[in-house]
Amino acid sequence: MKRSIFACLTLIIACSFAVSVEPTAIERGKRSLEQKAFIPAFWPKSAYDLAWKRWGVAEKPKNYHVAFRERYGLHDAPYPNDGLPMGLRTAPYLPFTKGIGIDCLACHGGSIAGKGIVGLGNSTLDVHALFEDMAAAGNMPVNLPFHFSNVRGTNEAGAFSVYLLGYRDADLNPTANMRDLGLHDDSCEDVPAWWLLKKKSTMYHVGATDARSVRSIMQFMMHPLTLPADFAKAEPAFRDIQQYILSLEAPKYPYAIDAKLADNGRAIFHENCAKCHGTYGDQPKYPNKIIPLDEIGTDRKRFDNIGTAFGEAYSTSWFAKEGDKVMPIKPTVGYQAPPLDGIWATAPYFHNGSSPTLKSVLNSKDRPKRFTRSFGTSEADYDKRNVGWIFQNAPAPAPDLSPFEKRKIYDTSLPGRGNGGHTYGDDLSDAERTALIEYLKTL
Ligand code: HEC
Ligand code: HEC
Repeated sequence: MKRSIFACLTLIIACSFAVSVEPTAIERGKRSLEQKAFIPAFWPKSAYDLAWKRWGVAEKPKNYHVAFRERYGLHDAPYPNDGLPMGLRTAPYLPFTKGIGIDCLACHGGSIAGKGIVGLGNSTLDVHALFEDMAAAGNMPVNLPFHFSNVRGTNEAGAFSVYLLGYRDADLNPTANMRDLGLHDDSCEDVPAWWLLKKKSTMYHVGATDARSVRSIMQFMMHPLTLPADFAKAEPAFRDIQQYILSLEAPKYPYAIDAKLADNGRAIFHENCAKCHGTYGDQPKYPNKIIPLDEIGTDRKRFDNIGTAFGEAYSTSWFAKEGDKVMPIKPTVGYQAPPLDGIWATAPYFHNGSSPTLKSVLNSKDRPKRFTRSFGTSEADYDKRNVGWIFQNAPAPAPDLSPFEKRKIYDTSLPGRGNGGHTYGDDLSDAERTALIEYLKTL
Protein backbone atom coordinates (compact mmCIF):
# COMPACT_ATOMS: atom_id res chain seq x y z
CA MET A 1 0.00 0.00 0.00
CA LYS A 2 2.69 2.42 1.10
CA ARG A 3 4.68 1.54 -1.94
CA SER A 4 1.81 2.28 -4.30
CA ILE A 5 1.24 5.69 -2.67
CA PHE A 6 4.92 6.36 -3.19
CA ALA A 7 4.64 5.25 -6.84
CA CYS A 8 1.61 7.49 -7.28
CA LEU A 9 3.43 10.47 -5.81
CA THR A 10 6.43 9.87 -8.04
CA LEU A 11 4.14 9.72 -11.03
CA ILE A 12 2.40 12.97 -10.09
CA ILE A 13 5.72 14.72 -9.55
CA ALA A 14 7.05 13.34 -12.84
CA CYS A 15 3.92 14.47 -14.68
CA SER A 16 3.92 17.97 -13.25
CA PHE A 17 7.58 18.19 -14.14
CA ALA A 18 6.79 17.13 -17.71
CA VAL A 19 4.05 19.74 -17.97
CA SER A 20 6.26 22.57 -16.83
CA VAL A 21 9.07 21.57 -19.17
CA GLU A 22 10.02 24.15 -21.83
CA PRO A 23 8.91 23.41 -25.38
CA THR A 24 11.72 21.91 -27.42
CA ALA A 25 13.33 23.72 -30.34
CA ILE A 26 11.31 21.47 -32.67
CA GLU A 27 8.03 22.39 -30.99
CA ARG A 28 8.91 26.08 -31.00
CA GLY A 29 9.88 25.85 -34.66
CA LYS A 30 6.59 24.20 -35.60
CA ARG A 31 4.67 26.89 -33.74
CA SER A 32 6.64 29.73 -35.36
CA LEU A 33 6.16 28.26 -38.80
CA GLU A 34 2.44 27.78 -38.39
CA GLN A 35 1.56 30.86 -36.35
CA LYS A 36 4.08 33.66 -36.84
CA ALA A 37 4.13 36.37 -39.49
CA PHE A 38 7.76 37.17 -40.31
CA ILE A 39 6.99 39.74 -42.98
CA PRO A 40 4.25 42.35 -43.29
CA ALA A 41 1.14 41.61 -45.34
CA PHE A 42 1.16 42.32 -49.07
CA TRP A 43 -2.55 42.93 -49.46
CA PRO A 44 -5.54 44.30 -47.52
CA LYS A 45 -7.83 41.67 -46.00
CA SER A 46 -10.61 42.52 -48.47
CA ALA A 47 -8.43 41.29 -51.36
CA TYR A 48 -9.16 37.69 -50.40
CA ASP A 49 -12.92 38.19 -50.71
CA LEU A 50 -12.67 40.13 -53.98
CA ALA A 51 -10.11 38.04 -55.90
CA TRP A 52 -12.90 36.15 -57.73
CA LYS A 53 -13.64 39.28 -59.77
CA ARG A 54 -10.61 38.35 -61.88
CA TRP A 55 -11.84 34.83 -62.59
CA GLY A 56 -14.21 35.67 -65.43
CA VAL A 57 -17.31 34.55 -63.48
CA ALA A 58 -20.55 36.48 -63.06
CA GLU A 59 -20.83 36.12 -59.31
CA LYS A 60 -18.85 35.07 -56.28
CA PRO A 61 -18.66 31.26 -56.31
CA LYS A 62 -20.47 29.43 -53.53
CA ASN A 63 -18.12 27.50 -51.32
CA TYR A 64 -15.65 30.32 -51.86
CA HIS A 65 -12.84 28.97 -49.68
CA VAL A 66 -12.65 25.80 -51.77
CA ALA A 67 -12.94 27.73 -55.05
CA PHE A 68 -10.13 30.06 -53.93
CA ARG A 69 -7.84 27.19 -52.97
CA GLU A 70 -8.44 25.41 -56.26
CA ARG A 71 -8.01 28.54 -58.34
CA TYR A 72 -4.48 29.14 -57.05
CA GLY A 73 -3.49 25.59 -56.07
CA LEU A 74 -3.36 26.17 -52.32
CA HIS A 75 -4.23 23.52 -49.72
CA ASP A 76 -6.19 23.16 -46.50
CA ALA A 77 -4.07 24.16 -43.51
CA PRO A 78 -3.66 21.22 -41.09
CA TYR A 79 -3.47 23.80 -38.22
CA PRO A 80 -5.60 26.83 -37.22
CA ASN A 81 -5.04 29.60 -39.78
CA ASP A 82 -7.85 32.18 -39.50
CA GLY A 83 -9.85 30.31 -42.15
CA LEU A 84 -7.13 30.96 -44.74
CA PRO A 85 -5.53 28.24 -46.87
CA MET A 86 -2.08 26.97 -45.92
CA GLY A 87 0.53 29.49 -47.10
CA LEU A 88 -1.60 32.62 -46.74
CA ARG A 89 -1.36 34.38 -43.40
CA THR A 90 -2.86 37.23 -41.45
CA ALA A 91 -0.08 39.76 -40.89
CA PRO A 92 0.36 43.43 -39.93
CA TYR A 93 -0.59 45.73 -42.81
CA LEU A 94 -0.97 49.47 -42.41
CA PRO A 95 -0.55 50.79 -38.84
CA PHE A 96 -3.13 49.11 -36.57
CA THR A 97 -4.52 47.07 -39.47
CA LYS A 98 -4.17 43.43 -40.40
CA GLY A 99 -3.83 42.28 -43.97
CA ILE A 100 -2.90 39.11 -45.81
CA GLY A 101 0.58 37.94 -46.71
CA ILE A 102 2.23 34.69 -47.58
CA ASP A 103 4.56 32.41 -45.67
CA CYS A 104 6.89 29.49 -46.39
CA LEU A 105 3.99 27.06 -46.71
CA ALA A 106 2.57 28.68 -49.85
CA CYS A 107 5.39 26.80 -51.59
CA HIS A 108 6.36 24.25 -48.92
CA GLY A 109 2.87 22.95 -48.05
CA GLY A 110 1.14 20.47 -50.33
CA SER A 111 -1.52 17.83 -50.12
CA ILE A 112 -2.00 14.31 -51.27
CA ALA A 113 -5.14 12.18 -51.18
CA GLY A 114 -6.95 15.18 -49.71
CA LYS A 115 -4.58 15.59 -46.73
CA GLY A 116 -2.54 18.75 -46.22
CA ILE A 117 1.14 18.02 -45.52
CA VAL A 118 3.60 20.56 -44.14
CA GLY A 119 6.92 20.18 -45.94
CA LEU A 120 5.57 18.61 -49.13
CA GLY A 121 6.49 20.93 -52.02
CA ASN A 122 3.39 22.58 -53.46
CA SER A 123 3.10 21.10 -56.96
CA THR A 124 -0.17 22.84 -57.83
CA LEU A 125 0.50 26.50 -57.00
CA ASP A 126 0.12 29.33 -59.53
CA VAL A 127 1.98 31.96 -57.51
CA HIS A 128 1.97 34.43 -60.44
CA ALA A 129 -1.83 34.43 -60.60
CA LEU A 130 -2.10 34.67 -56.82
CA PHE A 131 0.04 37.83 -56.67
CA GLU A 132 -1.62 39.45 -59.70
CA ASP A 133 -5.17 38.80 -58.55
CA MET A 134 -4.64 39.73 -54.91
CA ALA A 135 -2.93 42.98 -55.98
CA ALA A 136 -5.79 43.84 -58.35
CA ALA A 137 -8.37 42.98 -55.72
CA GLY A 138 -6.53 45.21 -53.25
CA ASN A 139 -6.51 48.13 -55.71
CA MET A 140 -2.76 47.98 -56.07
CA PRO A 141 -0.47 47.96 -59.14
CA VAL A 142 -0.78 44.60 -60.86
CA ASN A 143 2.39 44.53 -62.96
CA LEU A 144 4.80 42.13 -61.31
CA PRO A 145 8.53 42.88 -61.84
CA PHE A 146 9.13 39.42 -63.38
CA HIS A 147 7.34 36.09 -63.91
CA PHE A 148 6.76 34.60 -60.46
CA SER A 149 5.93 31.34 -62.22
CA ASN A 150 5.92 30.23 -65.85
CA VAL A 151 4.19 26.95 -65.38
CA ARG A 152 1.80 25.93 -62.67
CA GLY A 153 3.35 23.91 -59.84
CA THR A 154 6.79 25.46 -60.32
CA ASN A 155 7.97 28.91 -59.30
CA GLU A 156 10.87 31.33 -59.65
CA ALA A 157 12.06 31.32 -56.04
CA GLY A 158 15.65 31.91 -57.19
CA ALA A 159 14.62 35.04 -59.08
CA PHE A 160 12.93 36.36 -55.91
CA SER A 161 16.28 36.17 -54.12
CA VAL A 162 18.23 37.71 -57.00
CA TYR A 163 15.72 40.54 -57.39
CA LEU A 164 15.31 41.31 -53.69
CA LEU A 165 18.99 41.09 -52.75
CA GLY A 166 19.56 43.62 -55.55
CA TYR A 167 17.77 46.15 -53.34
CA ARG A 168 19.94 45.53 -50.25
CA ASP A 169 23.50 46.32 -49.23
CA ALA A 170 25.74 43.72 -47.58
CA ASP A 171 24.18 44.42 -44.15
CA LEU A 172 20.69 44.15 -45.67
CA ASN A 173 19.92 47.86 -45.48
CA PRO A 174 17.42 48.68 -48.23
CA THR A 175 18.91 50.64 -51.14
CA ALA A 176 17.11 52.95 -53.53
CA ASN A 177 18.80 51.69 -56.68
CA MET A 178 18.74 48.11 -57.77
CA ARG A 179 22.02 46.29 -58.33
CA ASP A 180 21.70 43.93 -61.28
CA LEU A 181 22.63 40.56 -59.85
CA GLY A 182 21.67 38.71 -63.03
CA LEU A 183 17.90 38.36 -62.88
CA HIS A 184 16.44 35.45 -64.89
CA ASP A 185 12.92 34.20 -64.46
CA ASP A 186 12.80 30.96 -66.43
CA SER A 187 14.22 28.36 -64.05
CA CYS A 188 10.85 26.65 -63.43
CA GLU A 189 11.85 25.35 -60.01
CA ASP A 190 10.12 22.40 -58.43
CA VAL A 191 10.01 22.68 -54.62
CA PRO A 192 12.03 19.99 -52.77
CA ALA A 193 10.38 18.12 -49.88
CA TRP A 194 11.60 19.39 -46.52
CA TRP A 195 11.98 15.91 -45.00
CA LEU A 196 15.02 15.36 -47.25
CA LEU A 197 17.03 18.18 -45.67
CA LYS A 198 18.23 16.09 -42.72
CA LYS A 199 20.17 13.77 -45.05
CA LYS A 200 21.77 16.55 -47.06
CA SER A 201 25.03 18.34 -46.36
CA THR A 202 24.43 20.78 -49.23
CA MET A 203 21.06 22.10 -50.40
CA TYR A 204 19.07 23.68 -53.21
CA HIS A 205 19.02 21.93 -56.56
CA VAL A 206 22.64 22.69 -57.40
CA GLY A 207 23.94 21.88 -53.92
CA ALA A 208 25.85 25.16 -53.61
CA THR A 209 24.69 26.10 -50.10
CA ASP A 210 25.47 24.52 -46.73
CA ALA A 211 22.35 22.57 -45.74
CA ARG A 212 22.71 23.72 -42.13
CA SER A 213 22.61 27.42 -42.98
CA VAL A 214 19.84 29.11 -41.01
CA ARG A 215 20.26 32.52 -42.59
CA SER A 216 19.90 31.14 -46.11
CA ILE A 217 16.28 30.18 -45.45
CA MET A 218 15.69 33.73 -44.18
CA GLN A 219 16.07 35.16 -47.70
CA PHE A 220 12.30 34.91 -47.89
CA MET A 221 12.19 37.80 -45.37
CA MET A 222 13.46 40.35 -47.91
CA HIS A 223 10.10 42.12 -48.05
CA PRO A 224 10.75 45.81 -48.86
CA LEU A 225 9.72 46.82 -45.33
CA THR A 226 11.92 44.47 -43.28
CA LEU A 227 15.00 46.09 -41.79
CA PRO A 228 18.35 44.57 -40.72
CA ALA A 229 17.16 44.54 -37.09
CA ASP A 230 14.12 42.43 -38.08
CA PHE A 231 16.39 39.78 -39.58
CA ALA A 232 18.57 39.67 -36.46
CA LYS A 233 15.50 39.43 -34.23
CA ALA A 234 13.98 36.58 -36.25
CA GLU A 235 17.15 34.47 -36.41
CA PRO A 236 16.50 32.43 -33.22
CA ALA A 237 13.03 31.53 -34.50
CA PHE A 238 14.52 30.42 -37.81
CA ARG A 239 17.03 28.27 -35.94
CA ASP A 240 14.01 26.54 -34.37
CA ILE A 241 12.22 26.31 -37.72
CA GLN A 242 15.29 24.59 -39.13
CA GLN A 243 15.20 22.09 -36.25
CA TYR A 244 11.54 21.43 -37.03
CA ILE A 245 12.32 20.93 -40.73
CA LEU A 246 15.12 18.52 -39.76
CA SER A 247 12.65 16.51 -37.65
CA LEU A 248 10.17 15.86 -40.46
CA GLU A 249 9.74 12.33 -41.79
CA ALA A 250 8.60 11.28 -45.26
CA PRO A 251 4.96 10.11 -45.39
CA LYS A 252 4.46 6.37 -45.94
CA TYR A 253 2.92 5.10 -49.18
CA PRO A 254 -0.75 4.68 -48.20
CA TYR A 255 -1.79 2.01 -50.71
CA ALA A 256 -0.93 -1.68 -51.14
CA ILE A 257 2.63 -2.68 -52.09
CA ASP A 258 3.57 -6.00 -53.71
CA ALA A 259 6.39 -7.00 -51.34
CA LYS A 260 7.93 -9.63 -53.59
CA LEU A 261 8.01 -7.34 -56.60
CA ALA A 262 9.47 -4.55 -54.46
CA ASP A 263 12.18 -6.94 -53.32
CA ASN A 264 13.15 -7.60 -56.95
CA GLY A 265 13.17 -3.85 -57.46
CA ARG A 266 15.58 -3.37 -54.57
CA ALA A 267 18.26 -5.39 -56.38
CA ILE A 268 17.77 -3.33 -59.55
CA PHE A 269 18.01 -0.14 -57.50
CA HIS A 270 21.26 -1.22 -55.86
CA GLU A 271 22.72 -2.08 -59.23
CA ASN A 272 21.69 1.09 -61.09
CA CYS A 273 20.76 3.90 -58.74
CA ALA A 274 22.23 3.57 -55.24
CA LYS A 275 25.66 4.98 -56.11
CA CYS A 276 24.03 8.38 -56.60
CA HIS A 277 20.81 8.22 -54.54
CA GLY A 278 22.12 6.19 -51.60
CA THR A 279 20.69 3.22 -49.76
CA TYR A 280 17.59 2.94 -47.57
CA GLY A 281 16.38 0.71 -44.74
CA ASP A 282 18.14 0.07 -41.43
CA GLN A 283 21.47 1.67 -42.17
CA PRO A 284 20.77 4.26 -44.81
CA LYS A 285 23.66 5.98 -46.59
CA TYR A 286 23.38 9.16 -48.61
CA PRO A 287 26.44 10.13 -50.68
CA ASN A 288 25.35 13.77 -51.35
CA LYS A 289 26.67 13.70 -54.91
CA ILE A 290 26.59 16.61 -57.36
CA ILE A 291 26.47 15.23 -60.90
CA PRO A 292 28.11 17.38 -63.60
CA LEU A 293 25.70 19.00 -66.02
CA ASP A 294 27.06 17.15 -69.07
CA GLU A 295 26.61 13.85 -67.35
CA ILE A 296 23.13 14.35 -65.89
CA GLY A 297 21.88 16.14 -69.03
CA THR A 298 18.74 17.63 -67.47
CA ASP A 299 17.71 21.23 -68.31
CA ARG A 300 20.55 23.62 -67.56
CA LYS A 301 18.63 26.88 -66.99
CA ARG A 302 18.36 26.58 -63.22
CA PHE A 303 22.09 25.95 -63.11
CA ASP A 304 22.99 28.89 -65.38
CA ASN A 305 20.42 31.34 -64.06
CA ILE A 306 21.93 31.99 -60.65
CA GLY A 307 25.44 33.12 -61.46
CA THR A 308 28.51 34.75 -59.99
CA ALA A 309 27.01 38.25 -59.53
CA PHE A 310 24.42 36.90 -57.11
CA GLY A 311 26.86 34.39 -55.62
CA GLU A 312 29.35 37.11 -54.73
CA ALA A 313 26.71 39.50 -53.37
CA TYR A 314 25.21 36.73 -51.23
CA SER A 315 28.55 35.41 -50.01
CA THR A 316 29.68 38.82 -48.77
CA SER A 317 26.32 39.63 -47.14
CA TRP A 318 24.76 39.02 -43.72
CA PHE A 319 23.20 35.82 -45.07
CA ALA A 320 26.56 34.09 -45.46
CA LYS A 321 27.81 34.85 -41.92
CA GLU A 322 26.56 32.56 -39.24
CA GLY A 323 27.94 32.88 -35.71
CA ASP A 324 31.68 32.62 -36.22
CA LYS A 325 31.21 30.54 -39.36
CA VAL A 326 31.01 31.65 -42.96
CA MET A 327 28.58 29.77 -45.20
CA PRO A 328 29.08 31.24 -48.66
CA ILE A 329 27.63 29.94 -51.90
CA LYS A 330 30.17 27.46 -53.26
CA PRO A 331 29.57 27.09 -57.00
CA THR A 332 29.12 23.49 -58.14
CA VAL A 333 29.25 21.77 -61.51
CA GLY A 334 25.71 20.39 -61.83
CA TYR A 335 22.68 19.10 -59.95
CA GLN A 336 22.53 17.29 -56.63
CA ALA A 337 21.18 13.72 -56.73
CA PRO A 338 18.47 14.01 -54.05
CA PRO A 339 17.55 11.38 -51.46
CA LEU A 340 14.43 9.50 -52.61
CA ASP A 341 12.59 9.13 -49.29
CA GLY A 342 8.85 9.66 -49.81
CA ILE A 343 9.46 9.94 -53.58
CA TRP A 344 5.98 8.50 -54.22
CA ALA A 345 4.48 11.74 -52.87
CA THR A 346 6.64 14.34 -54.60
CA ALA A 347 5.68 14.23 -58.29
CA PRO A 348 6.34 15.88 -60.68
CA TYR A 349 10.03 14.97 -60.84
CA PHE A 350 13.38 16.62 -61.56
CA HIS A 351 14.42 20.09 -60.45
CA ASN A 352 12.05 21.61 -63.01
CA GLY A 353 9.12 19.23 -62.54
CA SER A 354 9.39 18.12 -66.16
CA SER A 355 8.56 14.47 -65.56
CA PRO A 356 5.03 13.78 -64.23
CA THR A 357 5.60 10.16 -63.09
CA LEU A 358 8.35 7.82 -61.92
CA LYS A 359 7.72 5.75 -65.02
CA SER A 360 8.70 8.69 -67.21
CA VAL A 361 11.76 9.38 -65.01
CA LEU A 362 12.91 5.84 -65.76
CA ASN A 363 12.70 6.12 -69.54
CA SER A 364 13.91 9.34 -71.11
CA LYS A 365 12.44 8.31 -74.49
CA ASP A 366 8.97 7.98 -73.03
CA ARG A 367 8.52 11.39 -71.40
CA PRO A 368 5.54 13.51 -72.48
CA LYS A 369 6.51 16.55 -74.60
CA ARG A 370 3.53 18.77 -73.81
CA PHE A 371 1.16 17.84 -71.02
CA THR A 372 -1.38 19.09 -68.56
CA ARG A 373 -3.10 17.68 -65.48
CA SER A 374 -6.04 18.38 -63.21
CA PHE A 375 -3.90 20.06 -60.52
CA GLY A 376 -6.13 18.29 -58.03
CA THR A 377 -4.41 16.13 -55.41
CA SER A 378 -7.13 13.63 -54.53
CA GLU A 379 -6.77 9.88 -54.87
CA ALA A 380 -8.44 10.14 -58.30
CA ASP A 381 -5.69 12.47 -59.55
CA TYR A 382 -2.94 10.12 -58.42
CA ASP A 383 -1.50 7.39 -60.65
CA LYS A 384 -0.63 4.35 -58.49
CA ARG A 385 0.78 2.33 -61.38
CA ASN A 386 3.19 4.82 -62.87
CA VAL A 387 3.47 6.71 -59.55
CA GLY A 388 2.87 10.42 -59.83
CA TRP A 389 0.16 12.64 -61.24
CA ILE A 390 -2.26 11.49 -63.93
CA PHE A 391 -1.58 13.68 -66.96
CA GLN A 392 -2.95 14.25 -70.44
CA ASN A 393 -1.00 15.14 -73.57
CA ALA A 394 -1.91 18.73 -74.45
CA PRO A 395 -2.30 20.32 -77.88
CA ALA A 396 -0.35 23.48 -78.71
CA PRO A 397 -2.12 26.33 -76.89
CA ALA A 398 -4.29 28.60 -79.07
CA PRO A 399 -2.68 32.03 -79.44
CA ASP A 400 -5.51 33.69 -77.54
CA LEU A 401 -5.40 31.30 -74.58
CA SER A 402 -5.14 33.31 -71.35
CA PRO A 403 -1.77 33.27 -69.54
CA PHE A 404 -3.54 31.60 -66.59
CA GLU A 405 -4.65 28.66 -68.77
CA LYS A 406 -1.32 28.58 -70.59
CA ARG A 407 0.53 28.07 -67.31
CA LYS A 408 -1.39 24.81 -66.90
CA ILE A 409 0.39 23.38 -69.93
CA TYR A 410 3.89 22.04 -69.41
CA ASP A 411 5.64 22.51 -72.75
CA THR A 412 9.07 20.87 -72.56
CA SER A 413 10.30 22.81 -75.63
CA LEU A 414 10.15 26.11 -73.73
CA PRO A 415 13.06 27.62 -71.72
CA GLY A 416 13.78 25.96 -68.39
CA ARG A 417 11.39 23.13 -69.13
CA GLY A 418 13.57 20.65 -71.02
CA ASN A 419 12.88 17.02 -70.10
CA GLY A 420 16.02 15.31 -71.42
CA GLY A 421 18.81 13.62 -69.53
CA HIS A 422 18.91 11.27 -66.53
CA THR A 423 18.99 8.24 -68.84
CA TYR A 424 19.85 5.74 -66.09
CA GLY A 425 16.64 3.76 -66.49
CA ASP A 426 16.61 3.70 -70.30
CA ASP A 427 18.24 0.28 -70.71
CA LEU A 428 16.00 -1.50 -68.22
CA SER A 429 13.19 -3.76 -69.46
CA ASP A 430 9.58 -2.81 -68.76
CA ALA A 431 9.39 -5.61 -66.18
CA GLU A 432 12.50 -4.25 -64.42
CA ARG A 433 11.06 -0.73 -64.39
CA THR A 434 7.83 -2.03 -62.88
CA ALA A 435 9.74 -3.80 -60.11
CA LEU A 436 11.91 -0.73 -59.49
CA ILE A 437 8.84 1.50 -59.19
CA GLU A 438 7.36 -0.93 -56.65
CA TYR A 439 10.55 -0.66 -54.60
CA LEU A 440 10.54 3.16 -54.83
CA LYS A 441 7.08 3.12 -53.20
CA THR A 442 8.66 1.65 -50.07
CA LEU A 443 11.14 4.52 -49.54
C1 HEC B 1 7.85 31.19 -53.63
C2 HEC B 1 7.99 29.85 -53.13
C3 HEC B 1 8.82 29.60 -51.90
C4 HEC B 1 8.70 30.18 -50.66
C5 HEC B 1 7.71 31.25 -50.22
C6 HEC B 1 9.71 29.56 -49.83
N1 HEC B 1 10.41 28.63 -50.54
FE1 HEC B 1 11.87 27.41 -49.84
N2 HEC B 1 12.22 26.72 -51.72
C7 HEC B 1 11.48 27.04 -52.84
C8 HEC B 1 12.10 26.46 -54.01
C9 HEC B 1 11.62 26.57 -55.44
C10 HEC B 1 13.23 25.77 -53.56
C11 HEC B 1 14.28 25.07 -54.44
C12 HEC B 1 15.22 26.16 -54.87
C13 HEC B 1 16.22 25.74 -55.92
O1 HEC B 1 17.24 25.14 -55.60
O2 HEC B 1 16.00 26.06 -57.10
C14 HEC B 1 13.26 25.95 -52.11
C15 HEC B 1 14.23 25.39 -51.28
C16 HEC B 1 14.19 25.45 -49.88
C17 HEC B 1 15.05 24.69 -49.00
C18 HEC B 1 16.13 23.72 -49.43
C19 HEC B 1 15.55 22.35 -49.68
C20 HEC B 1 16.55 21.36 -50.23
O3 HEC B 1 16.43 20.21 -49.88
O4 HEC B 1 17.41 21.72 -51.04
C21 HEC B 1 14.71 25.02 -47.71
C22 HEC B 1 15.31 24.47 -46.44
C23 HEC B 1 13.65 26.01 -47.79
N3 HEC B 1 13.36 26.23 -49.12
C24 HEC B 1 13.05 26.62 -46.71
C25 HEC B 1 12.14 27.66 -46.81
C26 HEC B 1 11.63 28.42 -45.69
C27 HEC B 1 11.99 28.17 -44.23
C28 HEC B 1 10.77 29.35 -46.19
C29 HEC B 1 10.01 30.42 -45.45
C30 HEC B 1 10.78 31.30 -44.62
C31 HEC B 1 10.72 29.16 -47.63
N4 HEC B 1 11.58 28.15 -47.98
C32 HEC B 1 9.92 29.88 -48.49
C33 HEC B 1 10.34 27.83 -52.85
C34 HEC B 1 9.91 28.63 -51.80
C1 HEC C 1 24.98 9.31 -61.90
C2 HEC C 1 24.07 9.62 -60.82
C3 HEC C 1 22.64 9.11 -60.90
C4 HEC C 1 22.20 7.83 -61.15
C5 HEC C 1 23.03 6.61 -61.45
C6 HEC C 1 20.77 7.88 -61.00
N1 HEC C 1 20.36 9.15 -60.70
FE1 HEC C 1 18.48 9.72 -60.33
N2 HEC C 1 19.06 11.66 -60.22
C7 HEC C 1 20.38 12.09 -60.28
C8 HEC C 1 20.39 13.54 -60.25
C9 HEC C 1 21.62 14.43 -60.29
C10 HEC C 1 19.06 13.95 -60.18
C11 HEC C 1 18.53 15.40 -60.18
C12 HEC C 1 18.41 15.84 -61.64
C13 HEC C 1 17.62 17.10 -61.83
O1 HEC C 1 16.72 17.36 -61.04
O2 HEC C 1 17.89 17.83 -62.81
C14 HEC C 1 18.25 12.74 -60.14
C15 HEC C 1 16.87 12.74 -60.04
C16 HEC C 1 16.12 11.58 -59.85
C17 HEC C 1 14.72 11.56 -59.53
C18 HEC C 1 13.83 12.79 -59.36
C19 HEC C 1 13.93 13.24 -57.92
C20 HEC C 1 12.99 14.37 -57.59
O3 HEC C 1 12.80 14.62 -56.39
O4 HEC C 1 12.44 15.02 -58.47
C21 HEC C 1 14.35 10.26 -59.38
C22 HEC C 1 12.98 9.74 -59.02
C23 HEC C 1 15.53 9.47 -59.64
N3 HEC C 1 16.59 10.31 -59.92
C24 HEC C 1 15.56 8.09 -59.61
C25 HEC C 1 16.63 7.33 -60.05
C26 HEC C 1 16.60 5.92 -60.22
C27 HEC C 1 15.41 5.02 -59.90
C28 HEC C 1 17.81 5.55 -60.71
C29 HEC C 1 18.26 4.18 -61.13
C30 HEC C 1 17.64 3.65 -62.30
C31 HEC C 1 18.62 6.75 -60.78
N4 HEC C 1 17.86 7.81 -60.39
C32 HEC C 1 19.95 6.78 -61.16
C33 HEC C 1 21.48 11.29 -60.37
C34 HEC C 1 21.47 9.93 -60.64
